[in-house]
Amino acid sequence: TNAFKIATIPGDGIGREVVPEGMRVLEAVGRKFDIAFQFDEVDWSCDTYKKTGRMMPDGALEQFKQHDAVFLGAVGWPDVPDHVSLWGLLIPIRREFHQYVNLRPVRLLKGTTSPLANRGPEDIDFYVVRENVEGEYSEAGGRLYRGTEDEIAIQEAIFTRRGTDRVMRYAFELARTRKRKHVTSATKSNGIVHTMPFWDERFKAVKADYPDVETSQYHIDILTAHFVQHPDWFDVVVGSNLFGDILSDLGPAVAGSIGIAPSANINPEGDFPSMFEPVHGSAPDIAGQGIANPIGQIWSAAMMLDHLGHPEAAQSVIDAMEEVIADPASRTKDMGGKANTAECGEAIASVIASR
Ligand code: NAD
Ligand code: IPM
Ligand code: MN
Repeated sequence: TNAFKIATIPGDGIGREVVPEGMRVLEAVGRKFDIAFQFDEVDWSCDTYKKTGRMMPDGALEQFKQHDAVFLGAVGWPDVPDHVSLWGLLIPIRREFHQYVNLRPVRLLKGTTSPLANRGPEDIDFYVVRENVEGEYSEAGGRLYRGTEDEIAIQEAIFTRRGTDRVMRYAFELARTRKRKHVTSATKSNGIVHTMPFWDERFKAVKADYPDVETSQYHIDILTAHFVQHPDWFDVVVGSNLFGDILSDLGPAVAGSIGIAPSANINPEGDFPSMFEPVHGSAPDIAGQGIANPIGQIWSAAMMLDHLGHPEAAQSVIDAMEEVIADPASRTKDMGGKANTAECGEAIASVIASR
């Protein structure tokens, strides 16, 4: 199909500045490839919370069940506790829409530089496949014992066989589409004695079905060191919810800036809409200045196009993005440039239009 209904949630802070740039680029690519987008925008945010006591209305997600995708900016603002804002909006979407894969590419874009010396685009090109609905992000067993000096907070991590296997399978299938066909498992089975040995056991079982894919596994502590010292070792990295979260900020930092990193929260079965959002947050420290990097949002738009079955349109966004970003004058401040958010987005949209 060529007509899509997209639920847009700009959210908070720079989310509101970068989402319009993502939409601008989608409109441009839509004109080129004859794809029509209907954007249904909601103002769910910390402002909504302050007005109504909720991040989104009761049953809100029901209205987006029939949409083709969700396009989200960022959620969170300093005057609302993060666990309240995130568990009131972002996390419920991932869970209710069974978006159990969080796919986060890490790539050194052509013409840009890594903070690591002597590393080029051929050295940094991998995916973090993050488990997105269970693991350490669980509400189970939450207990807080207060009242004495010996206060205790307890929360249980949940790793199900079904939940673990399906995200690992996704990683192996993804590796099969790539040249190197390599999957790395992020573990910590030397220290976390119940869940992580189980994670390793499932990794071994799943990998038996993919004899054509090479594997390695590292404990998360040394894995973070290898991301910095040997980014070229990695092709597809599969990790639990928390480990994947950490690795997917570290990866983009190694590739230049957290501001460029995209993500796809995927429901592979297509029973529910998938959600596309940058990896970064609402960046209160730079919000309102118009200087946020829109690349993470725009690249997320490209992932959405791919998911919606328009890989050529997705590729044209990536190509335009790389062409524009190769020129230092078009980069935002986080990448050493002087362009503002809109200038960067406009430049990408006009390259797409001119092709
Ligand atoms: P953050 O990603 O918002 O910011 C971290 C640093 O990176 C800041 O210095 C910021 O200025 C910079 N940065 C981030 N995105 C950038 C961009 N596009 N261009 C230029 N610089 C950029 O992380 P944080 O400070 O830990 O979190 C701030 C708020 O965002 C918190 O409320 C947090 O919970 C929330 N958050 C939301 C999401 C999400 O919605 N998916 C993700 C991460 C954090
Ligand atoms: C991300 C964010 C979220 C996460 C937070 C804001 C809950 O850091 O999308 O990476 O941990 O998943
Ligand atoms: Mn994160």
